[in-house]
Amino acid sequence: MAKEKTIHTCTECGGTSPRWLGKCPHCGAWNTLIESVAESDAPGKNRYSGARHAGLAAAQPVTPLSAIEATDIARTPSGLDELDRVLGGGIVEGGVVLIGGDPGIGKSTLLLQALDAYQRAGLPTLYVTGEESGAQVALRSRRLGLEGSQVNVLAEIQLEKILATIEATQPAVAVIDSIQTVYSEQLTSAPGSVAQVRECAAHLTRTAKATGVAIVLVGHVTKEGALAGPRVLEHMVDTVLYFEGDTHSSFRLVRAIKNRFGAVNEIGVFAMTEKGLKGVANPSAIFLSQHSEPVPGSCVLVTLEGTRPLLVEIQALVDGGGPSPRRLSVGLERDRLAMLLAVLNRHAGVACADQDVFVNAVGGVRISEPAADLAVMLAITSSLRGKPLPKGFLAFGEVGLAGEVRPAPRGQERLKEAAKLGFRVAVVPKANAPKKPIEGLTIHAVERVEEAMQVVRGLV
Ligand code: TYD
Ligand code: MG
Repeated sequence: MAKEKTIHTCTECGGTSPRWLGKCPHCGAWNTLIESVAESDAPGKNRYSGARHAGLAAAQPVTPLSAIEATDIARTPSGLDELDRVLGGGIVEGGVVLIGGDPGIGKSTLLLQALDAYQRAGLPTLYVTGEESGAQVALRSRRLGLEGSQVNVLAEIQLEKILATIEATQPAVAVIDSIQTVYSEQLTSAPGSVAQVRECAAHLTRTAKATGVAIVLVGHVTKEGALAGPRVLEHMVDTVLYFEGDTHSSFRLVRAIKNRFGAVNEIGVFAMTEKGLKGVANPSAIFLSQHSEPVPGSCVLVTLEGTRPLLVEIQALVDGGGPSPRRLSVGLERDRLAMLLAVLNRHAGVACADQDVFVNAVGGVRISEPAADLAVMLAITSSLRGKPLPKGFLAFGEVGLAGEVRPAPRGQERLKEAAKLGFRVAVVPKANAPKKPIEGLTIHAVERVEEAMQVVRGLV
């Protein structure tokens, strides 16, 4: 391919400059110019021709929505049940999946296992490795027990060669591991830069749509938790999956945060073993740490992840402090923690203003649902008072600024799962109290935070 001219486009105002500049010459914004390929001025070829030659383009026929047949999307399951679950059933022809996660969490392992499963089912596959050599991939496959694997491997980082190979070999699924290593000849910026990642992902997406090849892009996550460089990738692709979990524990969660072909917030749960990732079909109890006796500062929460209830231990430590106390949270939102401390202070008379407060969701799981509020508050209070909650205790419910306890979706299901695992006492929002008693579980339904605190004081 001939080298084309590159231009720099402002992400704020869309203005262009032939050179990279720190400040956009059009709108004055800083650091907004990114490199892209300048396309020729020939009508039809120019991607902006719609705007620039608006008067020249012929109008296209339109179709009423009701006249368009809604065909079901054909999905091909990989046979790895937990992966298929997050994908909404399996991969889709021409679908593009972005899978992100910390280094070493298991992205390459999972995708190699998935490709091998597809290949064994008779679908041609292609694994493009930019980070490891073919020999390293072969070593991993042996470790995974995939001897005799027919997955096709290409060690390549140049976009044009990868695209040509995909078009020539027409695999059903292609994995690009990782998108940050791929670079296009068309751009002068370094591989891994925002401009390169964006341009390469856009080309690969177009190829997926044009050829029907399902493409999986592996992306790295920065320390801040965003997919390195461009969040723009998330808009381009059909499905975005994130790997979560503590690399020190063996459990891994794969969460769908966007899915044009299925439900979001579905999770797949895996355990990292000697022979790669194995699906965990009944994950509800994996995030409980095993205390032989209850300890202060620990409260179990039932959270709903996708379609399955999950029991997670919330730990809190309230300690020391000084004039500028610290508030730290792992796996929970820090702003929410600050809010809950204010509510505790105002409505339940529990003051931690001059104390350091640390909270942690055990097992590296990330909890974003507000139904965790009540458990977080009870864990904090328990740590502050140095009194453990009773054995077999759990709580859930969202807490509002006025101190009210709001219901959580599908409360019955949460309670039933907890009862099944041997939990005996629950504090839940009034609206979640079941009509029929649940065997083995004493349920205290509360409407306000102070009420919840009272119930707990009566129990310990
Ligand atoms: P990897 O898939 O290379 O992570 P990523 O591609 O997300 O960077 O995972 C590597 C980690 O997984 C590594 O620390 C070793 C571990 N592992 C196992 O425990 N068992 C296995 O069978 C394999 C292949 C890896
Ligand atoms: Mg890898």
